[in-house]
Amino acid sequence: MGQLDGRVAFITGGARGQGRAHALALAAEGADVVVADICADVAAINYPMASEDQLEETVKLIEEHGVRALGLRVDARDTEQVNGAVAQTIAEFGRLDILLANQGIVDFSTVETTTDESWATIIDTNLTGIFKAIRAVIPQMRKQEFGRIIATSSMGARATAPNLAHYIAAKWGVIGLVKTTALEVADFGVTVNAICPGAVGTDLFFNQPTYDIFCPDLPKPVTREQFEKRLDDLNYGLNGVRYLNAEDVSRTMLYLVLDRGLISGQVAEIGLLGPARSIY
Ligand SMILES: NC(=O)c1ccc[n+]([C@@H]2O[C@H](COP(=O)([O-])OP(=O)(O)OC[C@H]3O[C@@H](n4cnc5c(N)ncnc54)[C@H](O)[C@@H]3O)[C@@H](O)[C@H]2O)c1
Repeated sequence: MGQLDGRVAFITGGARGQGRAHALALAAEGADVVVADICADVAAINYPMASEDQLEETVKLIEEHGVRALGLRVDARDTEQVNGAVAQTIAEFGRLDILLANQGIVDFSTVETTTDESWATIIDTNLTGIFKAIRAVIPQMRKQEFGRIIATSSMGARATAPNLAHYIAAKWGVIGLVKTTALEVADFGVTVNAICPGAVGTDLFFNQPTYDIFCPDLPKPVTREQFEKRLDDLNYGLNGVRYLNAEDVSRTMLYLVLDRGLISGQVAEIGLLGPARSIY
């Protein structure tokens, strides 16, 4: 018997990385899980997004836990697609108990050199898309008088870092969104919290733009080995851990999901990022 038997979860950005790890953690506790992901590259973003194969693989891995799973191609920036996917989840599974509004992308530039396209793409994905997912699930959660909403912010929203104004602004914005929504839904059994991971070893961290920005003194393209050595040289991280595993974040996610309803409007920080030496 799992602690989430009979519950239904909906995860945006669920095809890989933290979204996949969260899906498997929920499935292991008995929840049915719908994973939604754009599964296509995003203009202005210089590293690949998840593929359809990764989405299918995630569905298979969820099903291995003996629960139901569904993979949907959804661009979280698109209201119709988000509302449609939530409606499909409720039609097929009968309810929707847990939302993990998790998709996110990164790009690097100083404020002075940030293009309108880069700014808009990051804000649309990392803030407006999170809002759209939260808005879409509230009517069903109100009807059920139960819901657990967790939005993925970042330790970047507990501090700041150069070259990331759009990312940081969006992630601080997620915290404001979460705290406001938490008050609005407090009377009908729904909690809303933010999780703020430090660096996590996913494709959002291990990609060419990140290697290059961390090592501006080295000839481009910087390799992953050079990047990891730089993390060592900077003594980056917490207790010798340079970056979290996605599963480390899933444990905090699960703690918030399983809470009986007394933790809401809160921000869970995972992994240290000193502002002086951080970029996320
Ligand atoms: N990896 C880190 O170091 C780190 C640190 C702090 C916070 N975060 C946040 O964690 C969350 C998950 O990222 P991750 O680390 O698993 O990286 P990831 O790149 O593996 O996962 C992000 C997922 O979001 C999907 N996605 C992107 N745009 C989308 C859209 N418009 N609609 C639907 N899906 C979309 C991608 O295809 C991908 O599957 C993000 O919000 C990210 O900002 C990551």
